[in-house]
Amino acid sequence: MELQFTEEQLMIKQAARDFAVTECLPGVIERDELQKFPREQVMKLADLGFMGMMVDPKYGGAGLDTVSYVLAMEEISKIDASTSVCMSVNNSLVCWGLEAYGTEEQKQKYLTHLAQGKKDGELYIGAFLLSEPEAGSDATSQRTTAEDKGDHYLLNGTKNWITNGGTASVYLAMAQTDVSKGSRGINTFIIEKNWPGVSVGAKENKLGIRGSDTHSILFNDVKVPKENRIGEDGFGFVFAMKTLNGGRIGIASQALGIASGAYERCIEYSKQRKAFGKEIMHHQIIQFKLADMATRIEAARLLCLGAAWEKDNNLDYTVSAAQAKVFASETAMWVTTEAVQIHGGYGYVKEYHVERMMRDAKITQIYEGTSEVQRMVISRSILK
Ligand code: CAA
Repeated sequence: MELQFTEEQLMIKQAARDFAVTECLPGVIERDELQKFPREQVMKLADLGFMGMMVDPKYGGAGLDTVSYVLAMEEISKIDASTSVCMSVNNSLVCWGLEAYGTEEQKQKYLTHLAQGKKDGELYIGAFLLSEPEAGSDATSQRTTAEDKGDHYLLNGTKNWITNGGTASVYLAMAQTDVSKGSRGINTFIIEKNWPGVSVGAKENKLGIRGSDTHSILFNDVKVPKENRIGEDGFGFVFAMKTLNGGRIGIASQALGIASGAYERCIEYSKQRKAFGKEIMHHQIIQFKLADMATRIEAARLLCLGAAWEKDNNLDYTVSAAQAKVFASETAMWVTTEAVQIHGGYGYVKEYHVERMMRDAKITQIYEGTSEVQRMVISRSILK
């Protein structure tokens, strides 16, 4: 493994950095406060090709590798984790799954637009509908049902905490088709938001990533054509798990970005803020905190890049993605909490950004598999 980025990867990192500073930073505090979806930012990300980064150009994607995706996710998350989660879900949970397992017709009809993030000049993104009121970590306990009616399925149920729920045009939704078969009785369906029987529940009022658009989605006798099932009958749960493996690299990179963004702010602040007659960077207590932050962030970065490298080289990245996610998200929580501490009273108010980063960090320990689920994935692999 060569730990050297290509020119293209470095270019992507710089483009993401420039984008985050010029497009995401202005208004990030206000969007958080007002829970305003970053529509303009996402439209511009689409123009940059960042909504379908890893998709083959023949389906409208940018044809980049996962390492570039990690670099871009880190840079955008340093400044605006609400925008980056929207990007991550569309890239990893929607486009990747469709490209890997969709039929040619499904790819032509949906992926070509989702990968561009636009259709007919309008925002066109997707969402991933696995979680339910009673099926979070225990994802096999799906209550949403899809009854086989011959030429179509009839979907009924409720999905919870859906990122991009209100803005997405297309949903990849998991539902139970045969409860007696356990996880092999689950299928994944492509559902259009404007179909009869689909409704969007109230927007969640969240602790963090408040700019992102999180809703419940309700299905009431939704007719889903047979050709909108992804893969063979009964493949839906394994599809969700395989898709989430890549999603976990995206969220790990988001957590990495939140941590490194907070750390960069601490470096700046400690050079300016004076206490006891000198800049606080001259106090050993601050120096050691910064040293620990830098070390943990670098370790998280290497885990993210390692998992991405394995994915790019067609190796099994299930465990490395889980390790990257659990470590990066716990690093993000620790670094951002320390960042608030370093900033003292200033850290506790909105203008200094780090309190938002601390709130944003928390969700990275929860969504796309909690830290406990990641530990299940890792330990099952070690012990099998
Ligand atoms: N990769 C590939 N396949 C996997 C897998 C993985 N990581 N985890 C499980 N599988 C496969 C198993 O091999 C098995 O396949 P077979 O039928 O071929 O044997 C099948 O899936 C069932 O697996 P288990 O028996 O291990 O299932 P389980 O009920 O014990 O649960 C679990 C396993 C790991 C806990 C799983 O339920 C899980 O990952 N839960 C967390 C769900 C999750 O991440 N939710 C996130 C919601 S999406 C979200 O947050 C998006 C957003 O909006 C930001």
